[in-house]
Amino acid sequence: MLLQGDAIVLAGATGRVGGATLATLVAEGARVLVLSRSAERARRTIADILDDAERAAALPFAADLTDPAQAAAAVDACVERFGRVDALVSLAGEGFGFRPLVDSSVDDLRKNVAAFTEVAYNLAVPALRAMSRSRIARARVRAGGSSSSRPAPRRTRRPGAACSGSRRPA
Ligand SMILES: NC(=O)c1ccc[n+]([C@@H]2O[C@H](COP(=O)([O-])OP(=O)(O)OC[C@H]3O[C@@H](n4cnc5c(N)ncnc54)[C@H](OP(=O)(O)O)[C@@H]3O)[C@@H](O)[C@H]2O)c1
Repeated sequence: MLLQGDAIVLAGATGRVGGATLATLVAEGARVLVLSRSAERARRTIADILDDAERAAALPFAADLTDPAQAAAAVDACVERFGRVDALVSLAGEGFGFRPLVDSSVDDLRKNVAAFTEVAYNLAVPALRAMSRSRIARARVRAGGSSSSRPAPRRTRRPGAACSGSRRPA
């Protein structure tokens, strides 16, 4: 299994694409925080999509992800339940629906992009912070303790750091 034991935050789990994504993540061995604005919808999605043996791998959680504090609380819940965050899948947002392109306006486009981007941003920031914290904690364990007098672990690329276009591969 590709994702054995990974802890994944899934936003938009109750949507059209989210259900199939949840099924695939769990089938590949991941543990998944299933997000919705409604705890009941998150629970129903888990019950509908996953079989009995798989359900223990999913945790329902209610959050309006346009609110940065609620998004951060969702990431905290993932860390509390699964011990860490390995990945974030962000499929949540209120778009303008499936209006034909010829009937849409640039305002529709702006609202759609803003909605999905804002949710992804609100989750990505706390998720990256949680990933950084666990990398530092793991590095300290490997170094044999948590004393700040020990040499700092050698840093590799930070999680989420973009590859700079100016850096050419060796
Ligand atoms: N459907 C397609 O055929 C298709 C094809 C290609 C790409 N996509 C892309 O895939 C992504 C998801 O599309 P979709 O069709 O699955 O969307 P969808 O069915 O409309 O689902 C939207 C999801 O976003 C959640 N959501 C909306 N506002 C939220 C908020 N403020 N806080 C938390 N959750 C919120 C909804 O959860 P609750 O209502 O339960 O809160 C729901 O799970 C989009 O980026 C879309 O462009 C879709």
